[in-house]
Amino acid sequence: MSRPVQVAPSLLAADFVALADSVREVEEAGADLLHLDVMDGQFVPNISFGPVVVEAVKRVARLPLDVHLMIDDPIRYVDAFADAGAEFLTVHVEACPDVAATLEAIRSRRVRPGITLRPRTPFADVEPFLAAVDLVLVMTVEPGFGGQAYLPDQEPKLSRARELRSDSGLDYHIEVDGGIGAETGPRAVGAGADILVTGSALFGSRDISGLIRGFHALGGAAAR
Ligand code: DX5
Ligand code: ZN
Repeated sequence: MSRPVQVAPSLLAADFVALADSVREVEEAGADLLHLDVMDGQFVPNISFGPVVVEAVKRVARLPLDVHLMIDDPIRYVDAFADAGAEFLTVHVEACPDVAATLEAIRSRRVRPGITLRPRTPFADVEPFLAAVDLVLVMTVEPGFGGQAYLPDQEPKLSRARELRSDSGLDYHIEVDGGIGAETGPRAVGAGADILVTGSALFGSRDISGLIRGFHALGGAAAR
């Protein structure tokens, strides 16, 4: 069954001096979620921002916040990001000493849990947790930096996520993150994605609303 395609701009590619303007711009252009990339300099080599910035975005945002935690042992920060206003809180399977407990901690705060994995991690590693999540995020770049090239060899994970969803009757979103733009978005949707994270391609575009409209139309096309 095909679903509407949703678009989640990654604020990592926005202008941090004028974050509120970027939020307003993508909201007016028709985005569905705001994707926030939290990096700790340990799980990934880069450092981005933490709960303080998420909370600041929450104050100006109308859209739900989709928070992607690229941090070691993320259970330590579930309360902080729940308090900051996350709607989705996605953790890396490789980063959690106890994945099930981490997802339960997120759910217990009435935040929607997501699970994700690095490109080199097999999809089988997340399969035991699919019943416990509202979102599965397939990384199509190595986590840590925006602006990298899309890895098409990750598409089988999108297809597997979709296959398992229809076989099992589970109802998680399938999100794709990394190198998504006008050319790669259709490929990812064809493989199984229904939420497109897009950073540098979106914020670098001269026609943000046109790009988002094009992504939304993929859902309609796929549904026919
Ligand atoms: C990478 C982040 C992505 C990144 C996407 O670690 O998870 O969300 O910002 O940026 P683009 O769309 O530029 O690949
Ligand atoms: Zn991300």
